[in-house]
Amino acid sequence: MTYSRIIGTGGYLPEKVLTNADLEKLVDTNEAWIYSRTGIRERRIAADDEFTCDLAERAALNAIEAAGILNNEIDLIVVATTTADQVFPSTACLLQHRLGIEGPPAFDVQAVCAGFLFAIDVADKFIQTGSARCALVVGAETFSRIIDWSDRRTCVLFGDGAGAVVLKVDNEPGILSTHLHCDGKYKDLLYVPVGVSRNFDRIKTGTAFTTMQGGEVFRWAVTAMSDIVDETLDANGMSRDDIDWLVPHQANIRIINAVGKRARIPAEKVVVTVDRHGNTSAASVPLALDEAVRDGRIQSGQHVLIEGFGGGFTWGSAMIRM
Ligand code: COA
Repeated sequence: MTYSRIIGTGGYLPEKVLTNADLEKLVDTNEAWIYSRTGIRERRIAADDEFTCDLAERAALNAIEAAGILNNEIDLIVVATTTADQVFPSTACLLQHRLGIEGPPAFDVQAVCAGFLFAIDVADKFIQTGSARCALVVGAETFSRIIDWSDRRTCVLFGDGAGAVVLKVDNEPGILSTHLHCDGKYKDLLYVPVGVSRNFDRIKTGTAFTTMQGGEVFRWAVTAMSDIVDETLDANGMSRDDIDWLVPHQANIRIINAVGKRARIPAEKVVVTVDRHGNTSAASVPLALDEAVRDGRIQSGQHVLIEGFGGGFTWGSAMIRM
């Protein structure tokens, strides 16, 4: 059998830190409210001249260095992003050029905060079917660009960043399974009502903002991300005790804690970065994975369940043997 295996991870956060105290100066909010309702203390914000591809490049270079490969060994690039630098070329194409790679496929996928799971799934299938041998998979966002910084209901939640993994072909797994879902009937609960084809004038006036029914999104995120734990375990004939680490999408500590409780995964096995990163959308899972690999919590041979949830709704998971 042919499998894909993670051989390197990387992450990058922009330098600028935006604390809850900073937000108190922008909107009618306070540290106590933000921390108690979300678990977020601070988030990073890209500089004015820093774009999603810049973040993606830094994370990718970290992952490539950790993997110990040459850039030209990469024969597939998949970038998960909702905040592409340009309408086209894709961020993946821009990144490919930055990395000095010519020829192999490079494309973006868009599933908002579940995007990295979609990107991993696609890259894993390319490798399993022999269409690629070494894939760079990136989640990168400048979500701060689609936030209304005068709306306290949303602006306290999000941040910018990028995470990446290098996947390589192997006879041993690797990625044991991937699981993806979408349900577009929830399109009006979490969305940006602006695109190239629709309401484009709002892009020109800089008012293309994230809109959300927070309570509804919260409930769905908990249900979807806890149910998919069972789906993932069943697909692999595993029990919850077999999970060494859960790396969930980092949207809100209360969502993460509720998922852990409902899925019966002890808090000590759950990787949390939301306190320092906020919700970095497609970057949140690879950033959290990278942090726990680099600080030595996640060890080779362990089983890691990664999962995401986002607008659409979209949700997904992967069971990984590191
Ligand atoms: N500071 C202070 N007060 C705030 C506030 C802020 N930043 N944002 C909202 N409030 C107020 C509300 O206006 C409301 O006041 P009211 O009762 O006078 O109307 C009150 O706080 C309670 O709001 P509520 O929406 O009930 O709070 P909550 O406990 O549901 O928490 C969220 C709100 C947004 C933190 C929570 O619903 C959530 O995290 N949802 C999921 C969001 C998410 O993760 N989205 C991305 C998923 S990928």
